[in-house]
Amino acid sequence: MKLKIKRESGFREYEVSEGLLLLKALYEIKQKQDSTLTFDSGCRSMVCGTCAVRVNGKEVLACSYKANDEDVIEPLRYHKVIRDLKVDKSLAQSKNRASEGYLHKYNEVVLNQNDEKKLSIQSDCILCDSCFSACPVMEVNENFLGPFSLTRSLRYAEDRREEDKKEIIDAIQKSGIWDCTLCGECTLVCPKGIDPKGDIVILRNISASYGYMDPNFNNMGFDGGFGFDPNGGF
Ligand code: SF4
Ligand code: SF4
Ligand code: FES
Repeated sequence: MKLKIKRESGFREYEVSEGLLLLKALYEIKQKQDSTLTFDSGCRSMVCGTCAVRVNGKEVLACSYKANDEDVIEPLRYHKVIRDLKVDKSLAQSKNRASEGYLHKYNEVVLNQNDEKKLSIQSDCILCDSCFSACPVMEVNENFLGPFSLTRSLRYAEDRREEDKKEIIDAIQKSGIWDCTLCGECTLVCPKGIDPKGDIVILRNISASYGYMDPNFNNMGFDGGFGFDPNGGF
């Protein structure tokens, strides 16, 4: 079967054996046809998150996706391409720092089983960046914190050991939860079954309990804007 792979110089076609996982097919090309083909891999078992690529426009882990004839393979979007399918993930990781998804002020509490079960969902994130690459908001707003960073914020905002949850909530207001269009693309591509879109909705509710609201409502205003005008009807 044929695979079309984006190289530095443009797309190139390769013939590979039938029925291979994509990562195996990439190794087959590298070992038998073209040693210059560059891609990332580590665990080969959906744990390290390094092998994410786009296939026919959708993000997948190369180590778990079964390749099909005529598949078109490209690197993740919004990442600097180091070479071929290998990308620099530092921008995405800087968003993790900006969203402050970590413990700020430690509160000495013992977590029960339910707490641990709840936190384990977001903790399963393998930082593959698939959701980041799938997010359409990144295309128009490079400052957007992005799905996995916000998911991580929820993980710590819901941690009973965090004494200062407001610090986390404050950090995700600008270019964060309100900029998401709730399109769900991030949730669709996550290989670990995490639901960043749903997590963002929960973060909006938590933010509202701290007095925050969607800034777009403010922009609508009462004078000529959309909505209820207390002085002049609708
Ligand atoms: S739901 Fe929000 S974060 Fe997820 S892909 Fe859509 S815009 Fe991006
Ligand atoms: S939330 Fe899912 S898709 Fe996004 S980085 Fe984590 S594991 Fe990958
Ligand atoms: S090689 Fe580790 S997730 Fe694919």
